[in-house]
Amino acid sequence: MPLHEYVLFDPLFSDADAEGMVDLCQRFGRYGMYSAENEGGPEIGEGLTQRHDAVLNHLKAGGMHGAGEPVSVLAARTNYFREEYAYGTRPLIEGIEPFLFHEGFVEAARHIHDRRVIEPAIVFANLMVPGQELALHTDVPEFRGVNRKLHPQWLLVAMRHSGLFEDWRMPIATGVAWFHDCDGGEFAFYPDGADGPPVYHKVAYNTALLVDTDSVFHGVDRVASDGGPLPRLRPGMQLVFDGDRQWSIREHEGGEVAGRYAWEELRFSVSWKAYCFADEAERDAWRSHTDDLDLDRTLATLVDDLRARGRIGSETPPPKELAIHIIDEYIGFPAPAA
Ligand SMILES: [Fe+2]
Repeated sequence: MPLHEYVLFDPLFSDADAEGMVDLCQRFGRYGMYSAENEGGPEIGEGLTQRHDAVLNHLKAGGMHGAGEPVSVLAARTNYFREEYAYGTRPLIEGIEPFLFHEGFVEAARHIHDRRVIEPAIVFANLMVPGQELALHTDVPEFRGVNRKLHPQWLLVAMRHSGLFEDWRMPIATGVAWFHDCDGGEFAFYPDGADGPPVYHKVAYNTALLVDTDSVFHGVDRVASDGGPLPRLRPGMQLVFDGDRQWSIREHEGGEVAGRYAWEELRFSVSWKAYCFADEAERDAWRSHTDDLDLDRTLATLVDDLRARGRIGSETPPPKELAIHIIDEYIGFPAPAA
């Protein structure tokens, strides 16, 4: 049994429901660019990107292929397109309900976390174009009182890996589903931890995986391309459905086209995330904020631990330096694949 259990769905849906997801993707129609380069916020995150941990590791490793490409090319490879299909249990597009309330996902979430009360948190689509890839990372976890709306993402990730805040962590299960066959773009993940071997899941129509992606490192291998240059992606660009299984990247409606793709060339996945509570009392503590952690307590705990490990002296380093200490000490990435 792997260190972190995961569940494979093959198939996930009936043929009609699977085809319904492709239809839904087209009906939604336009997808904005999701960039990991936004600022890490004030205070402790000053001068760092939100996912400073994954960005640094990706640059160190030279991307998923260790090719030592310039930063601008790596950025274009990793800025994919993303939109929400549901928030909480509220559908944001008609037809997402069978996915949002998929019984198999709920059962699998109960199983991997051994927790009974499952509450869907979000459903979102990810679209990638040929030549794109997704850096190895673990997802941004959530703690009662400390979450991504308030605090930098790298800090939340380090908190999970430190193991020091598990009493406040809200275990989350993530289901990822694919609705076409795609060349390249394998989902690579490390169910036995960063030191274990990676498992590669080929992107195949109507399959899904459910994993604790807050704990298990994962990434997306490069989506096959004809070797041509990546489009020059700029923040604010959109991937747009043009009809008849054709898509394009545009600056804005009716704007200049930066790239054109057939559906078959894209990589489309849909992610489902759900909170997994031990019982109703735990869910109520989350809702009513009766047992919250805060940033001061979090940082004090980390500083004490870094000091005990001999990583910092009696003087607490300035914020940016402390941030780098926290990332380096707690987030142990898998070694780059050979
Ligand atoms: Fe992820």
